Amino acid sequence: MMRLFEEYREFIPDFDSFLESLERPLPNHLRVNRLKTSPASVIALLQNKGIFLKPAYIGNDTLYEAPRDLLPGRLLEYFLGYIHPQALTSCVASLFLAPRANSTVLDLCAAPGGKTSHVAQLMANTGIIVANELHLRRHAPLSHTLSRLGVLNAVLTAYPAQEFPLRESFDFVMADVPCSGEGRWRFSRGPYSTAESKYRTAMVEAQKKMILRGFDLLRKEGTMVYSTCTYNPEENEKVVDFLLGHRDAELVPLDNVPGIEPGIPRWRKENFDGRVRGAGRFYPHRIDSVGFFMAKICRRG
Ligand SMILES: C[S@@+](CC[C@H](N)C(=O)[O-])C[C@H]1O[C@@H](n2cnc3c(N)ncnc32)[C@H](O)[C@@H]1O
Repeated sequence: MMRLFEEYREFIPDFDSFLESLERPLPNHLRVNRLKTSPASVIALLQNKGIFLKPAYIGNDTLYEAPRDLLPGRLLEYFLGYIHPQALTSCVASLFLAPRANSTVLDLCAAPGGKTSHVAQLMANTGIIVANELHLRRHAPLSHTLSRLGVLNAVLTAYPAQEFPLRESFDFVMADVPCSGEGRWRFSRGPYSTAESKYRTAMVEAQKKMILRGFDLLRKEGTMVYSTCTYNPEENEKVVDFLLGHRDAELVPLDNVPGIEPGIPRWRKENFDGRVRGAGRFYPHRIDSVGFFMAKICRRG
């Protein structure tokens, strides 16, 4: 593990605490599904079973931490679609996107549907979400999530995100792209590709195409969130830098968020567009969850 993450020592603050945090088990985070119930009802239902929830993220009343030994997927409340087990940082991406009611949303890489269903919740099942997932084998878990949680405003498509047709444009785009997944270390320990592998190079090329396509699908004044669950700057700031170099995009700084660290403007002697500092990095010793990167991008009016 040390060898895998050692090269990030230069930019991850308090690196030794970061390494220690990777050894701790992931907390059990839940999102209460407001499409079907309310936080107060779920808290009461679970309390009756001796399960006590703690609020998990300042300023949001639907994200909770459950006891570590709880298996939420075995609860009746799970099957009824009242709760969805989801990493806290994954929920933060949809909160950053902040889709409006009655708007149009494209989720470019949707399965298994954690963010699609959260976006539907934030829109109170209004408007329309196009939930795109290339791999048909992943449409079953995606459909299952959406139907269990009572999502009624989503349709499924199966295009490669980087070639999603330009026929329509959207108010909001969620680009939660495939990545090397280093941030999921506490969840499933590797193996991960090395930074130099051909696999990773091909993935970065795909990520660049996806961010460009996502941006081109935005309406004027539309908003996109680009996110990964990895620490590698090649898949994060460098991809955002590529967008900023090729399109007239605006980065909305993600500051004043508990536990967030700024994007890094330089990696391996390469300087990125200084605006990438406005992106957000989440590390497990700062926010007790999966490691994440997010950038909020706007298309000018
Ligand atoms: C990080 S996961 C998305 C997680 C999802 N947003 C959620 O919150 O539950 C990335 C997804 O992209 C899919 N994918 C991989 N390559 C793709 C492509 N070229 N176009 C669209 N989806 C792709 C993967 O199968 C995977 O389901």
